[in-house]
Amino acid sequence: MLTAYDYPTAKLAAEAGVDVILVGDSLGMVVLGYDSTVPVTVEEILHHTKAARRGAPHVHLVADLPFMADATSERALAAAERLVKEGGADSVKLEGAKTAVVRQLVAAGVPVLGHVGLTPQTAGSLGGYKVQGRSAAAAKKLLEDALALEEAGVWGVVLEMVPAQLAALVSEQLQVPTIGIGAGGKTDGQVLVFHDLIGVFDRFKPRFVKRYLEGGQLIREAVAAYVADVRGGVFPAAEHSYQMDEEELEGLYGEG
Ligand code: KIV
Repeated sequence: MLTAYDYPTAKLAAEAGVDVILVGDSLGMVVLGYDSTVPVTVEEILHHTKAARRGAPHVHLVADLPFMADATSERALAAAERLVKEGGADSVKLEGAKTAVVRQLVAAGVPVLGHVGLTPQTAGSLGGYKVQGRSAAAAKKLLEDALALEEAGVWGVVLEMVPAQLAALVSEQLQVPTIGIGAGGKTDGQVLVFHDLIGVFDRFKPRFVKRYLEGGQLIREAVAAYVADVRGGVFPAAEHSYQMDEEELEGLYGEG
């Protein structure tokens, strides 16, 4: 699974063989420049879900329910209706063990992906962006939450920033797939934020991120080369320009 928030990225992800695309609320930080995921709205997720859907019409598309959109079942149902009907999402993701909300969504026919461990929308109350479930008690609670989500009907559970041993145990205990991010190699699937993978988000780099490209550096170099070419009169060259026929030119100047 990989995040994508727009047409070209979703298209590239689909072409590269990604199984599931997530229009995550990480959108707020890596694309919209917010300091956290909290300000992200349903409208913003919807806008980007539509674009991602156009880029990847045949890949399972998950849309995140942003902060407070799942505060009640009514709100979650209303948001999910828009994300599925207008946005073309195949399922929605919500953070935390909100089993009552999950039940309502599933009963209404909306597939749901759970998300436990570090849940960025409420990172403040978890002590910041920190590994979750390190103590035996916290680990038991996380396992219980994951099992409760499964029981409520989720099709899978994202495990974010949890010790590898705990993620392995949760993955063993659940029937539905687990998808890890900062959760070691024993989950059923993995997810990364696209802008982390290609190295264009540089405000911070969590330990779990592997950059497959230093995209930020490459893009800066490309843009600097364009700027230099334009300032130096090198671009556009003849091959980038359109010409008029001589005859038409004569007509243009001759009638002056
Ligand atoms: O919003 C997001 O991108 C996520 C992933 C990190 C799982 O929730």
